[in-house]
Amino acid sequence: MNQPTSNRSVVVLGTQWGDEGKGKIVDLLAAQADLVVRYQGGHNAGHTLIVNGEKLVLHLVPSGILQANARNLIGNGVVISPAALKKELDDLENRGIQTKGRLGIAPNCTVIMPYHEALDRMREVALGSQAIGTTGRGIGPAYEDKIARRGLCMGDLLDGDRLQAKLEPVMDYHNFVLTQYFQDKALDISRVRDEALQLGAILEGYLSDVTDELHRARDAGLKILFEGAQGTLLDIDHGTYPFVTSSNTTVGGACTGSGIAPCDIDYVLGITKAYTTRVGAGPFPTELHDDAGQHLGERGKEFGATTGRSRRCGWLDAVALARAVKLNGVTGLCVTKLDVLDQLQEVKICTGYLLHDQPIDGYPADRDQWSDLQPRYETMPGWQQDTRGIKSREQLPDTAQVYLNRMEELIGAPIHILSTGPERDEGTVLVNPFG
Ligand code: GDP
Ligand code: IMO
Ligand code: MG
Repeated sequence: MNQPTSNRSVVVLGTQWGDEGKGKIVDLLAAQADLVVRYQGGHNAGHTLIVNGEKLVLHLVPSGILQANARNLIGNGVVISPAALKKELDDLENRGIQTKGRLGIAPNCTVIMPYHEALDRMREVALGSQAIGTTGRGIGPAYEDKIARRGLCMGDLLDGDRLQAKLEPVMDYHNFVLTQYFQDKALDISRVRDEALQLGAILEGYLSDVTDELHRARDAGLKILFEGAQGTLLDIDHGTYPFVTSSNTTVGGACTGSGIAPCDIDYVLGITKAYTTRVGAGPFPTELHDDAGQHLGERGKEFGATTGRSRRCGWLDAVALARAVKLNGVTGLCVTKLDVLDQLQEVKICTGYLLHDQPIDGYPADRDQWSDLQPRYETMPGWQQDTRGIKSREQLPDTAQVYLNRMEELIGAPIHILSTGPERDEGTVLVNPFG
């Protein structure tokens, strides 16, 4: 196994459909980092940190906030609901976690406004049985406005005239769609403006040139941890479109969403659960509808950290993971929730797909093929022993070691971190991503 030497920029990202345990691992690695940076997504994310039995779920604030050494940054690629961010900051301050001076936000972050949430909701209603199952946070409509070059940014919330000039045409347009197309209520422009200005005044102190901070940190040899949201299969380009989120969750998002260059990424940590989950609608070849699936959901406590919805559960999909490794240039894998498999008599890994009963080579090239895929499995004996909190790979039962070895072979990347419990210290770092 290659031992990386002194990596300064590490990207942590999800290799499945999100909720792989990114928050836990970012919190753990942030002990070594000077900066922790979110670069895409918004408060659709729910990242859970459990330290000494105390649970904290973060949505917009980077998961380095509990580590006193780390400054936390929100890059330009993140879409921010100022109202949701204020609430999250208030919650943190109420818990005694200081954010002032420890959090910087790029003024160019696109903002999620109340009309984005209304549009997200109405679109889902209109889609009926074809609904995406979004988090309803306005993520898609906000990114649409950004790409359509009519998006507002955090910096726009600081000046009443500037805000009014940009808001009026945008709200005229969206109110037309809301009332005429969706038969919904129009939103009041002056109310939206006044609320946004109030929030802008509260959040102004956090604004900072995040890209410049990152360049200076790189030049000074500081350690930077990039925290992805969602997961590779929810990527707008490479995921199970249209059942995806509206950003690039794959590694390129770390560059475009923060302003660092690809050559500034020294290491990519791909996080995967030891099985698979998905929240919301869309294809999921290895989904289980039997007792094993129910067992994974119950033992894994698979409920969405943002919406509380039950997560769909299934076996590990090595085909999709192998693609994720290639797409992201994964240096090392972190396998989480191995302990959730502890009681099973047998475990399965998907090693290939059938399309209309014919084997296909690897990952489907055409996204419309996803819904017709059937998994082909390799079955292995379970270990039926407790792995919670183990501190080395050798301590694992033999059959669990066989499972992990086979994962590495099929997926094409080495396991560098193993997590066997939700607490910060449950698991083991086999190879330190920072070297
Ligand atoms: P994220 O969105 O990728 O940060 O993941 P979430 O926080 O949404 O979901 C992961 C869930 O699994 C959280 O409830 C974590 O506390 C929990 N978790 C993380 N790692 C482990 C692990 O190794 N074992 C168990 N049992 N739970 C874990
Ligand atoms: P974290 O960062 C799991 C899913 C939604 C829906 C689809 C589109 O905690 O891993 P959106 O609201 O983004 O337009 O919804 O994406 N989704 C997530 N699933 N974890 C997440 O974030 C998710 N963020 C969005 O359920 O299927
Ligand atoms: Mg989550």
